[in-house]
This record gives sequence, structure tokens and C-alpha cells, in this order.
Amino acid sequence: MARPLRLGVLTGGGDCPGLNALIRGLVRRGVHEFGHSFVGIENGYMGLVEPELVRPLGVEDTRGILPKGGTILGTSNKANPFSYPVREASGWVDKDVSDGVLRRCEELRLDGLVAIGGDGTLSIAHQLAGKGLKVVGCPKTIDNDLSGTDQTFGFDTARLIVTEALDRLHSTAESHDRVMVLEVMGRHAGFLTLDSGIAGGADVILIPEIPYRVESVLETLRRRATRRRSFSIIAISEGAYPEGGALSVLAQAADIPGRGVVRLGGSGKVCADLLASHIEAEIRVTVLGHLQRGGSPSAADRLLATRYGCKVLDLVRDGQWGHMVALRNNDIIAVPLSESRKERRVDVQGDLVRFARSMGIGFGD
Ligand code: F6P
Repeated sequence: MARPLRLGVLTGGGDCPGLNALIRGLVRRGVHEFGHSFVGIENGYMGLVEPELVRPLGVEDTRGILPKGGTILGTSNKANPFSYPVREASGWVDKDVSDGVLRRCEELRLDGLVAIGGDGTLSIAHQLAGKGLKVVGCPKTIDNDLSGTDQTFGFDTARLIVTEALDRLHSTAESHDRVMVLEVMGRHAGFLTLDSGIAGGADVILIPEIPYRVESVLETLRRRATRRRSFSIIAISEGAYPEGGALSVLAQAADIPGRGVVRLGGSGKVCADLLASHIEAEIRVTVLGHLQRGGSPSAADRLLATRYGCKVLDLVRDGQWGHMVALRNNDIIAVPLSESRKERRVDVQGDLVRFARSMGIGFGD
């Protein structure tokens, strides 16, 4: 039998429902079947840069965490060791502290590291693997925008939340004959808006992959009005933008130390403002924001995360460092971490968009 190992575990990037379920599956199978021990690293990669952010992670620590949202280990989306924000007299400066991370893993006597995160976290894991660190990855994000896997965990729960929000907007929209715009997360990918838009019966779905024309959205609204439906529901991605227009941005990457990506937001208001003067109905905008990321994971996310957590140990056993677990055709398999660096976007020619169009849903093009 293989010797028991000491594995570090971290969760990086934005949190999402299912992280604790994954940690639980990993630790429980790791301890029970392999006799491994685990070190919890707090606040993502920050825990391998700053002192005193590590703690033992045993089966006891995983009791009762399955239905809990968030992550018991904490997370950070500003802690990239290759571009780490360090405060100097002149202000914040981003520095490469990745050698220090490798040294810290040695000091902690880690035989390997499990990095759970989205594209940022997994891309850092890939770079660390390139420097010789033994690391395996697990793909999470409500955006579902990671290539290499058919689905990330966190997505299903967020989809349920957005769908329920659309259901709720329907009743009030209908009562007041209003146009309701719901702004949905997802960064530059429209998966969350598309799936929930269809599941929640939206009349117009606006996603980043299809820049929209105001006239086309208006046509869909007018078409509904002629059928005596004067209320309408528009689901719009935070990353959607009008043709020839710009992304709606809350903060530029350069203004957020260590972040490296823009903060999106405001697309719903932009869209509502563009439509307002052309229609009689009142428009209201709802921004779901972080409600989409909080709370208890769905059964499907608990299951996927648990499968990911358990499967990680097969990769460790087989020495498949530099890989991540992934869902393919309902199997959990190992794929190279480099896969996570490729962008995944909605296939605008795919069945889902095609069927939605055939049902009369407008995409604004
Ligand atoms: O990547 C997950 C996500 O929730 C995106 O959908 C969203 O744009 C972003 O994170 C928000 O990040 P933050 O929590 O830093 O505001």
C-alpha cells in the first residue's frame, strides 16, 4: 500500500456553493481510505505567502459543513503569488513571490497541494506546477466558464437562484405591466443567464457572446405587446453589451491591487436606459449580485463537488500532478491543468440558443 501523504488544501478566487462539500469528500476519503493527513491553507494562495494562515484539517473539521455555503478555509481573489500586492512607501506594488510559496510548501512538509478554484486559481496552480510544485486542481465557479470540464460546481445552485428570481419577477411584472430587467453574474460567459433565462421563462436573453441591438430588443417587446402581453422579462449578463458599445465596468483591473481582472456590473441599467425612451411600459432593474453565490449548495452541486473531492485522491495516488479533475460525459476524469486556461463560452450556434430562438425568445441580434 502507498505511504500516507500530507496534503495542503486551499480554496481561491470567488467563493461558491459546494466548496465545503468538496473539502469534506476529499478529507474523509483521504483519511479513511488512504490514511492521508491534510493541512488547511486559509484565504487561497495568501495562506502560502503570509505567516500563520495554516491549520490541521481533519475529519472532525468537516462535520456539518456539507450544506454550508462559502468555504471554511476562507478565500481571496487578490492573492496571485506571481503578482502579489505588497504595500511599499510609494503605494501598492505587485511582486512575484512564487519562490516563497514553493519554500513554504517545503517548510510545511507538504507532499502535494490541492487547489480548488476558478480560472485564476487553476492558472496559478498550472504556473506553480511548471516550477515543480506537486499540485492538483478542482474546477469551481458559478460562471461555468472553465474549459476542460462539462460543468463546474456552484453553477447549478446559482442557476436555481436566478431561475427563482425570474419566477418572482414574473408575478410583479405582470401585475404592473412592467418590463423587468434582471442582471446576472457570469463575467464574460453567458451560461448562467442562458440556462436560467430559459428555465425562468425570460422573453429576452442578452449574453456577452451576442452583442445586442436596442431595436431588436424593442421588436421582441413590441411583439409581445401585440399579443396583449405588456409585461416582459429581460435576463441580461453582467458582461453583455450593446453592439458597438462597451462593457459595463464597476472597477478597472489596474485600480484593484493584485486582482488582475475588471469588476463587471451595471449592464442592466445601461440596457434599461437605452430602452426607456422607446417604450411606454415602466422599466425596473434588479441586480442579483452576490445572492447568486451565497447559501447552501443544491443537491447536484453537493454531489459534483463530493465526486471531485474524492476523485482528487485517485490523481494523487496515480501521480497525476499538474492535472485537475473534470466532468466529461458524466464521468469524473483527469485533464491537464493547462486546459483550464482556455476560455469557454456559450456556443451561439448550439441547440440551447437555437431552441430558445425557436420558442420566440429574443437574443437582441
Ligand atoms: O467569478 C464569479 C463571480 O461571481 C462573477 O460572476 C462576478 O463577476 C465576480 O465573481 C464578482 O467578483 P467579486 O466577488 O470580487 O465582486
